[in-house]
Amino acid sequence: MIFPKTVKIVEVGPRDGLQAEVQNVPVDIRIQFINLLSEAGLKFIETGSFVSPHWVPQMKESDKVYQGITKKEGVDYSILVPNVQGYELALTNNVTSIAVFTAASETFCHKNINVSIAESLQNFKTFIPQAKAKGLRVRGYISCAIVCPYEGPIAPHAVHELVKKLLSLGCDEVSLGDTIGAATPLQVKNLLKNIPAPLHKIAVHFHDTYGQAIANIYTALEQGISIIDSSVSGLGGCPYAPGASGNVATEDVFYLLRGLGIRTDVQIEKLLKASIYIDTYLKRQTTSKASCALRGL
Ligand code: HMG
Ligand code: MG
Repeated sequence: MIFPKTVKIVEVGPRDGLQAEVQNVPVDIRIQFINLLSEAGLKFIETGSFVSPHWVPQMKESDKVYQGITKKEGVDYSILVPNVQGYELALTNNVTSIAVFTAASETFCHKNINVSIAESLQNFKTFIPQAKAKGLRVRGYISCAIVCPYEGPIAPHAVHELVKKLLSLGCDEVSLGDTIGAATPLQVKNLLKNIPAPLHKIAVHFHDTYGQAIANIYTALEQGISIIDSSVSGLGGCPYAPGASGNVATEDVFYLLRGLGIRTDVQIEKLLKASIYIDTYLKRQTTSKASCALRGL
């Protein structure tokens, strides 16, 4: 079996993780959390989102968070934006890396960003080319890439078409989201085989509701994927996806990759510091088995 030599981990805890918390985490805690993540060696960190504060109040003040973090050289600090208003906020705040998001399910797309899939792409067209011309990095997300909480299983070809469209709009990479964490390895294999894109531009984003995320990631690695999204301590969820639990934990991904001899930039002792920091603030127990074991719990 040939696995990639190195894997890029995209840490989404400060965004996907904290957006799903009942309580709003204050700016100073979010800043310290992100600083601990970058100190742990993570090179790609999604720091927040510029979305409607009526829709996702947990992500309010993402501008202050972005301004306050210590920008470590060589680290990509990104912000999620759904529309041109979010993009303009990104420019105002000198953000250098953005992530847009749509879905492979019409129902979910409406519930999440209040537009159809076609309208979402039309919206992205109004700012992605300009963002690229200004030198920003642009990631595209496709939610419900395998299963939708409203429409059930999603056909791979629908996702393939969207991947092509997002790349042709100028996205540097596309992340395929198992938003409700219901996918299993055979479905992952079927989605990834014959994907009409260079594999180094495809990321996988698994939530871990049914405990399948690590098996799914192993399958994705076998298929040649080398970009994995995760959330420290297994934080996460999506407010518009009933049943979605946390993202796969960064500690679990680290442990899998280390066992496969795949290099990452993560320093596990420091990662645990970030993990314990946020769990202590939130008064939550980690959902990551690897984190429990590595912490000696
Ligand atoms: P809308 O209500 O149709 O938008 O929402 P609107 O244009 O009518 O504006 C409504 C209000 O929102 C206005 O404010 C706008 O100014 C404001 P008001 O006048 O009422 O005070 N607004 C904004 N404010 C800040 N930033 C913006 C922005 N745009 C409008 N960018 C909208 C449409 C897209 C805004 C809304 O649906 C929204 O914010 N949705 C975000 C939902 C979200 O963040 N979901 C979670 C992230 S996606 C996810 O978790 C999945 C992922 O992890 C992958 C996976 O797991 O599958 C990425
Ligand atoms: Mg997600």
